[in-house]
Amino acid sequence: MSELKIEPSEATLGAVVSGVDLSELDDSDWRTIEAGFHDRAVLVFPGQHLSSRDQVAFGRRFGEIEHLFGDAGIIPISNQRLDGSLMEDHEPPMQVMLGNEGWHTDSSYMPLAAKASILSAHVLPPSGGETEWADMRAAYEALDSTLRERVAELSAYHSIRYSQARIGHTNTNEGLYGYHDGDPPRRSLVKFHPVSGRPALFIGRHAYGIPGLDAAESETLLDDLLAFACQPTRIYQHRWQPGDIAIWDNRCVLHRARPYDHSQARVMKHTRIAGDPATETALA
Ligand code: OGA
Ligand code: MN
Repeated sequence: MSELKIEPSEATLGAVVSGVDLSELDDSDWRTIEAGFHDRAVLVFPGQHLSSRDQVAFGRRFGEIEHLFGDAGIIPISNQRLDGSLMEDHEPPMQVMLGNEGWHTDSSYMPLAAKASILSAHVLPPSGGETEWADMRAAYEALDSTLRERVAELSAYHSIRYSQARIGHTNTNEGLYGYHDGDPPRRSLVKFHPVSGRPALFIGRHAYGIPGLDAAESETLLDDLLAFACQPTRIYQHRWQPGDIAIWDNRCVLHRARPYDHSQARVMKHTRIAGDPATETALA
């Protein structure tokens, strides 16, 4: 096999990794990949065709697997049932996936936010269904100094009930995942990366209710920050091919799915890596 190569995208985040078989990852290549993950925050590995087991094993390199609804470390992000039939938009799993079309970071509405997420592509629609990531380190750096000082003082609650209600959906525990009926966790708007120390905006569709602001002011500020943050040069898009796998750092990037025609199948498999309780726990 050829040498491992990490090719950065033209955006501030994202890289394509070739010359490695993730099902036979040696320690030297792992160290290179981990360094690339910290630097680029999103890594795409085309043509890996990993088994579910190898996908989970790759995830374990990054940390503990976050188990959602007692799964085996693989969550189907799919509009197709095992019998081949397609789901309808009103069904709870589809509502969770439609929610994924808004910029978000995984498990920010849970008491422990996620460290990283893995997604692999299995069946794809002929058009649409891409995934995009936005760099919240670069977004923070691009804020003017007044806003940077303002957000440094602020925190927000994170709730999937809020984010789903905002798009007209009711959050239930019948989705694929994405349910929390405890108190919504509160998190600082600026997150310092536990490895690099780099500050990043920690926002996204689940964030609401900034203490000290009224509901409308809070919503406006969070919407404005999101619109400013998620702009070209800070966005990396991947158009999937079957067999591709990607990993991203939920501590410093947002992501979203792009729409596609739901009369076509899109079958993806997700593995979520738990945050470190020392750094991804909510504020008191
Ligand atoms: C996810 C997610 C986006 C996509 O798996 O957490 O948001 O493109 N997926 O399916
Ligand atoms: Mn997600």
